[in-house]
Amino acid sequence: MEKVIDEEKQGESLVLDQKAGNTKKLFIESYGCQMNFSDSEIVASILYENGYNTTQNLEDADLVLVNTCSIRDKAEQTIRKRLQKYNAVKRDINPNMKVGVLGCMAERLKSQFLEEEKIVDLVVGPDAYKDLPNLLSEVEEGRDAINVILSKDETYGDISPVRLNSNGVNAFVSITRGCDNMCTFCVVPFTRGRERSREPQSIIAEIQDLHDKGFKEVMLLGQNVDSYLWYGGGLKKDFVKATAMEKATSVDFTQLLDQCATLFPKMRFRFSTSNPQDMHIEVIETMAKHHNICNYIHLPVQSGSTRILKEMNRQHTREEYIALVDKIYEIIPDISLSQDIITGFPTETEEDHQDTLSLLEHVKYDFGFMFSYSERPGTMAARKLEDDVPEEVKKRRLSEIVALQQTIALERTQRFLGQEMEVLIERESKRSDQQWSGRNSQNTVVVFPKENYKIGEFVMVKMTDCTSGTLIGKAVGYSELMN
Ligand code: SAH
Ligand code: F3S
Repeated sequence: MEKVIDEEKQGESLVLDQKAGNTKKLFIESYGCQMNFSDSEIVASILYENGYNTTQNLEDADLVLVNTCSIRDKAEQTIRKRLQKYNAVKRDINPNMKVGVLGCMAERLKSQFLEEEKIVDLVVGPDAYKDLPNLLSEVEEGRDAINVILSKDETYGDISPVRLNSNGVNAFVSITRGCDNMCTFCVVPFTRGRERSREPQSIIAEIQDLHDKGFKEVMLLGQNVDSYLWYGGGLKKDFVKATAMEKATSVDFTQLLDQCATLFPKMRFRFSTSNPQDMHIEVIETMAKHHNICNYIHLPVQSGSTRILKEMNRQHTREEYIALVDKIYEIIPDISLSQDIITGFPTETEEDHQDTLSLLEHVKYDFGFMFSYSERPGTMAARKLEDDVPEEVKKRRLSEIVALQQTIALERTQRFLGQEMEVLIERESKRSDQQWSGRNSQNTVVVFPKENYKIGEFVMVKMTDCTSGTLIGKAVGYSELMN
């Protein structure tokens, strides 16, 4: 299903098991990327050890935390609206409530937040969550508290995250933090800092724990997972200074993926996000080698025009991207790919836009996330390029891309009809309590009658019908390979 992400719909309040003896109540909600949802689990875990249990009820919370997104202006506006809502609750119902802002907007706006939004007591950037207990003591004593220091080595590898709002089947495990790519439109390198990788042993230990608790699918997370590189800690950019021994024993993404898939053969692995410039063919070969690495890659392209890609500081041309995709299809013919695309980047012409449309035709993505360009203060694009594509042109180009993607998605989903495919059951279908919903390896949602199957089981489903984004089928038995 092609999705134009609507940040307003992404807020989610999260709850975990309660710990006896904890007397304070935390209401935490997350906006934006999967990394934010994963980070909120780390934050809840830290506060869980410091006297807080979570609540789903904003009105009786002692502490409200909102994990924020800065990726587009609209995302920030959504958070501002949420703060107004907290303000109303504090004024009318719960005067003792404290409010903290976490994540990318905290990092971007820093102390400006405390001045602009009087409701906010606490501002904490993505690398400073371990300081939360200290910061909360400050707040309890009546002072505003802030820590937005970005770190060279914080990966939270030693924190075992509590799983919030979990179905007990799927979990996120973060493997890298930050990003060094400096795409000219993107605020992430400023809000999440330089790229660093997490120690492989702590990743494996976290997956082992998930395995022991019955989880069946792990999504390895990073802004740019292909760039994963462990050589004893520290920033990726300092790898050049590593000793010969550190270099010889370093672990890259291919090795990490291979290790995960080998150690946990009955768990499925996915990863996100792949950046074309850092994606190696060895990763694709490792995927082809292991049944339990899903045949799906999120491979953002942003634009089909080489000129625009250059302006965006994406380190590849249209032709190089297409060559990579062709190679991927050659190695794993039934793989599915998804994209991120930005329309109306500064200087984008009608011809550049046509290049993006023709790229979609060539690649045939199963689905995608499409956005119109939103200028972000401080980025290279904001400093060097005028935001010169009129809003209505951005929107028109966006709707043309979304429409074409939808047509292609239907074709792509139809290719599964008649096939028997392995599906991991994840939840009850939203449409019917008689049906399960899960995904095939290619990440397409599959809905089928429950019969006697259970959540967390891998079943073979025969595909009988579909819409552009959902397959409808009937289970024909358990998967032999995964059970
Ligand atoms: N690490 C990922 C992207 C993270 S941001 C990568 O390798 O591409 C997620 C998506 O948001 C990006 O892929 C891009 O399509 C979109 N995005 C980022 N900055 C944007 C901006 N200023 N305006 C519109 N969309 C943007
Ligand atoms: Fe952003 Fe580009 Fe990194 S989109 S997160 S700077 S790969």
